[in-house]
Amino acid sequence: MAKIDKIKEQFYFSNKQLKDMTKIFLMDMKKGLAGKKSPLKMISSYTDICDKNKLGTFMAFDLGGSNFRVMIIKLLGKGKTKEIFSYKKSIPQQCMEQDKDVLFGFMADTVKKAVKKAGIKKNMNIKAGFTFSFPVEQKAIDRGYLIKWTKGFTTKEVKGHNIIDLMNTALKQKGLDNISVNALVNDTVGTQVAESYKDKNTSIGIILGTGSNACYTESTKNINEKNRQGYDREHMIINMEWGNFDKARRNIYDERLDRLTPNPGHQYLEKMVSGMYLGEIYRLVLLDLVTLGDILSENDPKIFQKKYSLSSSQVSDIEKDISRSLTGVSNVLKTLGITQTKILDRKKMKEIAGFISDRAANMVAIGISAVIGKIDPKVKKKHTIAIDGSVYEKYHKFPDKIRKGLKNILKEKAKKIKLVLSKDGSGKGAALISAAVV
Ligand code: GLC
Repeated sequence: MAKIDKIKEQFYFSNKQLKDMTKIFLMDMKKGLAGKKSPLKMISSYTDICDKNKLGTFMAFDLGGSNFRVMIIKLLGKGKTKEIFSYKKSIPQQCMEQDKDVLFGFMADTVKKAVKKAGIKKNMNIKAGFTFSFPVEQKAIDRGYLIKWTKGFTTKEVKGHNIIDLMNTALKQKGLDNISVNALVNDTVGTQVAESYKDKNTSIGIILGTGSNACYTESTKNINEKNRQGYDREHMIINMEWGNFDKARRNIYDERLDRLTPNPGHQYLEKMVSGMYLGEIYRLVLLDLVTLGDILSENDPKIFQKKYSLSSSQVSDIEKDISRSLTGVSNVLKTLGITQTKILDRKKMKEIAGFISDRAANMVAIGISAVIGKIDPKVKKKHTIAIDGSVYEKYHKFPDKIRKGLKNILKEKAKKIKLVLSKDGSGKGAALISAAVV
């Protein structure tokens, strides 16, 4: 068997494997919910709704994997919202590595600039929902402690601390006494809430961006008692932190990738699926083939040695190229200084991109099928799944690949599941939750 076929096999899921993995995923969900040891933390969000009749102006802060965004949103009642201001800054590297004051100082500074640009007066008191897209142990809607960093962050003195306190202190230090955070929300939860504001069938929220995670609505009675204290609503959204699922078969490329991340041993699913890592898995496969002289042999074998030198969007560009001589593939290679390539090698490169992204989409389909298996095993109802993030939005045919995986697992029942792009929902959702709290 050719080397490339052997590699392809290691990324492949048969229908039986997809179904078996779905059952394992569901078991881990149940363990996590019951408070037992599980890679799925199943974190309580202490919310399940937004109030469609609330009026007023609210802010949203959104710390994702790459950007920090500040939004001002007006709630107009009857399920209508209007974004009146939005300001985004990419997160400087030092904020991800140094101590908490650098990160929280940067966020508070950005809020200050946004407030100035938007013309918000000192005497206007504004509440904010804070989308903080990391695993946080929530004790209430306004109290949550960072469990661990993910997505390359290592900022010191934040783990174990209440994120709302850190943010409100930083805001005060910048003289922003009129603005305070009253709700802490994961980006999946924000996305689900924002979509459910428009579509009542929304039962799951997913992020497929720099990182990957999902949440869904659970009956409160199914949640371990210590994780629902002081909460009296019938349903609660659970932040699964599915990026940490660790039962899928991993191959040598997954292992090589993991070893060189700041969080080895963690976030195995995320490292197979999300935008931060897809390009790197691809590079590691190419590096192997180049070293063996199996591909691009007329080039220096060192060409793919630089870590993270290929982005997920480049992999997508390679996969989407349908031109006869694969000029799109050549163009990506040119940006890496590789000018001499054979068509056969370019075809191989396209094939590799295809099986890496197929596996990623299959993992997402497994996760979705497990959640559906938990909330509606017979799939009696229609389900809308709100999804946001660059991989879902921009990676070539990613939504179709997820649909294919769902069909392989759920057969006809997959027709009841609608996937929708819920763009920038996470911040808006946080503002809606903030409004529901006051
Ligand atoms: C990482 C974070 C998680 C977040 C996801 C998507 O997996 O741990 O909280 O939802 O990235 O941004």
